[in-house]
Amino acid sequence: MIAATKNAPGKLGAAVAAAVIAAVFLAYFFFPFGFSPAGELTPDDPNVVHRGMEVYAAQCAACHGAKLEGQPDWRRRGADNRLPAPPHDASGHTWHHPDELLITMTKHGPAAVLSTPYESNMPAYAGVLSDADIHAVLSYIKSTWPKEIRRYQDEINRQARSR
Ligand code: HEC
Repeated sequence: MIAATKNAPGKLGAAVAAAVIAAVFLAYFFFPFGFSPAGELTPDDPNVVHRGMEVYAAQCAACHGAKLEGQPDWRRRGADNRLPAPPHDASGHTWHHPDELLITMTKHGPAAVLSTPYESNMPAYAGVLSDADIHAVLSYIKSTWPKEIRRYQDEINRQARSR
């Protein structure tokens, strides 16, 4: 009995040390490269986010709004029977979608992710923006979301990957 109680702190110490080593190991692998284990976008990489901000201002703000607020009355179809540009902030639904879908939609337009023909005013950016710039602009958009919404979208990414 005495020997067992004497041993307990030693075992606990070893377990704590193992946990610390594991945490340092994981942090080393995931964070220096700005790699987010919860998806493809890298909203915690300041260089990527800065580039994304420039791309957003030049290419997206005209429709999606300088503050990501979208076009007025964005839920109602316009005179052309097409939907206005939705916000990319927390009030919109960009964060309802996994990274992969957002990337494909930006690259090839909304029709590329739908199974029925669809007319949209959202341009396709393949040939206009590089893959890196598309990654950057979507990472910038994600970086503006509140923490709980970012976490929610991380979860959507995990579910999309396990499908
Ligand atoms: C000419 C206006 C216009 C520009 C410029 C534009 N968009 Fe859009 N975007 C739209 C419209 C309109 C929609 C809604 C599409 C629909 O459902 O028909 C949309 C939808 C989207 C969606 C889907 C959002 C969701 O929740 O389903 C994403 C992602 C998106 N745009 C990203 C971008 C990015 C990134 C840029 C800049 C690189 C950009 N857009 C530039 C008009 C625009």
